[in-house]
Amino acid sequence: MRRWKVSTTLLSEHEALLSAARDARENAYAPYSHFTVGAALDSGEGQVFLGCNVENASYGLTMCAERVAVGTAITAGYRRFTAIAIAGPDGVATAPCGACRQVLAEFNPTMTVVYTTPDGAVTTTIAELLPHSFGPLI
Ligand code: THU
Repeated sequence: MRRWKVSTTLLSEHEALLSAARDARENAYAPYSHFTVGAALDSGEGQVFLGCNVENASYGLTMCAERVAVGTAITAGYRRFTAIAIAGPDGVATAPCGACRQVLAEFNPTMTVVYTTPDGAVTTTIAELLPHSFGPLI
């Protein structure tokens, strides 16, 4: 039984974001896990920032695709994000890990999250994935 509601159709903007995440996944450096991930972060103003996972022989220094995308966006001067799409390997659900949820919550807890599963894409939000989160006091 599916744990989460899978969409058969996505909003066109989310479809485009997921396509960008799939492209970013092509560049993933994952020689240890062979689990390649791509992420595309939408500023909501026309800019999309990409990330892929970057592994390391020391394992613990591995960077997730989502946090690489956040770093790319922040470096470019963007801090407000409306959505992120995450594309992982076929046959496995690739919801963001706990650390990435916290990092994404920093910038917008209401951010839409689209991630791939074997049955299709799931659309949710950071608030749903990380309820009662700790964040900046604004
Ligand atoms: N990974 C991501 O890039 N994002 C996630 O949300 C889940 C995990 C990466 C980290 C590591 O390189 C590989 O997937 C296996 O955990």
